[in-house]
Amino acid sequence: MRQIRAPETFRVKSFGCQMNVYDGERMAELLAEKGMRAAPEGAEADLVVLNTCHIREKAAEKVYSDIGRLVKAGGDRPPMIAVAGCVAQAEGEEIMARAPAVGLVVGPQAYHRLPSMIDQVVGGQRAADTDMPADAKFAALPARRRVGPSAFLTIQEGCDKFCTYCVVPYTRGAEISRPFSDLLREAETLVEHGAREITLLGQNVNAWSNDETGFDSLIRELAKIPDLRRIRYTTSHPNDVTEGLIRAHAEVDKLMPYLHLPVQSGSDRVLRAMNRSHTADSYLRLLDRFRAARPDLALSGDFIVGFPGESDAEFEETLRLVDAVGYAQAFSFKYSPRPGTPAATMDDQIAGDVMDERLQRLQASINRDQLAFNEASVGKHCQVLVERKGKKPGQWLGKSPWLQSVHFEGEAAMGDVVEVELVQAGPNSLAALLLTSGAAEAA
Ligand code: 5AD
Ligand code: SF4
Repeated sequence: MRQIRAPETFRVKSFGCQMNVYDGERMAELLAEKGMRAAPEGAEADLVVLNTCHIREKAAEKVYSDIGRLVKAGGDRPPMIAVAGCVAQAEGEEIMARAPAVGLVVGPQAYHRLPSMIDQVVGGQRAADTDMPADAKFAALPARRRVGPSAFLTIQEGCDKFCTYCVVPYTRGAEISRPFSDLLREAETLVEHGAREITLLGQNVNAWSNDETGFDSLIRELAKIPDLRRIRYTTSHPNDVTEGLIRAHAEVDKLMPYLHLPVQSGSDRVLRAMNRSHTADSYLRLLDRFRAARPDLALSGDFIVGFPGESDAEFEETLRLVDAVGYAQAFSFKYSPRPGTPAATMDDQIAGDVMDERLQRLQASINRDQLAFNEASVGKHCQVLVERKGKKPGQWLGKSPWLQSVHFEGEAAMGDVVEVELVQAGPNSLAALLLTSGAAEAA
């Protein structure tokens, strides 16, 4: 590879889950610390980091087509291309072999080494690092800087559950929990820099534990940070739910009334084949306990349709579970065979048109419930965290406690927590009237 110019500007493109968004922000901070500038919107960057997701199909193909596009757009000065994230972890060697335009490949546990890898590429050597050191990364990252009113904080990574469809245990590695003192420091820094809400992230966020301290104690400790107004967490696993976490929803005011608890299927046979180690009924009983603790809790979940062998009757069980729960929001996906996972080689893979039809029916149920949830909120008074300006002059966008997008007009500023009345509901957002301004509320 020829010697190339040291990059001065960069762009990080993150795909997939919120943990990738967090990783993307941390990479951007790392590059800024190295003296590079973020390329302005629309301008070409000297370095492009593709922070990829591998959870469902077509991820790798998408990476190759993005690389092709970048090379073409760059003409005789193509950017340095770095492939990061879970596709890098799973298919790093292949990417290096197939795409000579890629300068470096870095896995999700190794991106703290990005600066030295860039130097290596500048020196004419391509670089690849997909090591999985358990805790080196976070210690090597610079302190948090630019943050908006709502910030992410990864507290836990990896997964030991090995659901039979899922690549995460292979791409993100075993479950690790970051030390409590590091998390407290990072949360305080985020709040000092303007964050008013922190969403705690982890593949199994509620599996976090440290020196006998469980996830609910972490929430209680973070809630003591004075200017932090809201705490959320995602994604949780039914098997890691504790009585303490359920109680925290009743007792910690700053913990928002929203729970994302994936179930994947309403059929016990399918759940067993998925290695989920919970049943539809045990899941519903768990939700009952959460709702007893926090009656206005908004529920969210993840679903997979067309898992190998899923019959029509088993799919109907999923629809019945959705009816029974009444989700405020939910995410549903067609099963996608991931190389190296047990389900990919199971018999009875389901035909694409069957999956399409099931997905459509499931999404119709979910959309119906989401609209019903939003409509039932009309007339409520609630607090909204103001996150950004809207398109119209004087308009602001923010989130209700139940994670609904809310827009309103009036005197406010980013980071304010304002009191509103929700007046009109759509499937994806609500209109509100401002009752008190942020300044009045703070007075
Ligand atoms: N196919 C389809 N959906 C998947 N998910 C994880 N793996 C797969 C797969 N192979 C979904 C699950 C999970 C969410 C993050 O992505 O619903 O909860
Ligand atoms: Fe994947 Fe299951 Fe782990 Fe979630 S719990 S990351 S779905 S293996």
